[in-house]
Amino acid sequence: MTSLKDKINMDKLPQHIAIIMDGNGRWAKQKGELRVFGHKNGTKSVKETTEACGELGIKYLTLYAFSTENWNRPKFEINFLMELLVSTISRETKRLMDNDVRLLAIGDLDSLPSACYRELMSAIEQTKNNKTLTVILALSYSSRNEIVEATKKIGEAIKNGKMKPEDITEQTIIENIYTKDIPDPELLIRTSGEHRISNFLLWQLAYTELYFTETLWPDFGKEQLYEAIIDYQNRERRFGMTSEQVTVKS
Ligand code: FPP
Repeated sequence: MTSLKDKINMDKLPQHIAIIMDGNGRWAKQKGELRVFGHKNGTKSVKETTEACGELGIKYLTLYAFSTENWNRPKFEINFLMELLVSTISRETKRLMDNDVRLLAIGDLDSLPSACYRELMSAIEQTKNNKTLTVILALSYSSRNEIVEATKKIGEAIKNGKMKPEDITEQTIIENIYTKDIPDPELLIRTSGEHRISNFLLWQLAYTELYFTETLWPDFGKEQLYEAIIDYQNRERRFGMTSEQVTVKS
């Protein structure tokens, strides 16, 4: 079977891909199943996407797994998602180690149930020296809240005489948000046909290429990721290169 992988320009890979994994509920409904069946199948797409990023040599993959707004969902669905996170992380930690994948998390992690928090911290600790790929889970994440928290920290530093208001630069903000050591994503993917950012990485997406696909998250696999990367590379070919490079290519 031919794969779109062969059409990817390995010299022009994004180093950071962020994904809004959407459409689990609709996918399940189409099959006459409960929404949580969609989440369960969504973990397969998480696995496939992580594997594909590792194989290609992409350095960072950020996955929007749970927003602060998601706390408003029915209790049953929240509990299911939290248990799914715990079981997936504990089951996959060995595979992360075998594949040299480091796990990180961003968001209001203190608001997670204690079992979920413990499992997450244990996997983060175990994988902390891995280098091939970093997977960042956005959990109980709100970008506006991230910016509010950063502003508070900067305010404190000014109050304590550690800096002056006129010293604030873009770098000051970067150093005070959750992603301070992570480069901005070059490519954002949102599945399920919704064309929104939904309070995700508002600062970090300033120059990111946005890619929207109708595919529902549980149907998203390696080939769909390759398709998104090729689309990104085509846009870069039109806008990102010098005229000399374009001449060489054509
Ligand atoms: C959005 O679909 C998806 C979520 C809110 C949860 C995403 C979680 C997973 C894919 C599984 C766990 C992840 C990891 C990292 C182990 P939706 O429920 O909003 O779908 P809908 O828009 O069709 O209702």
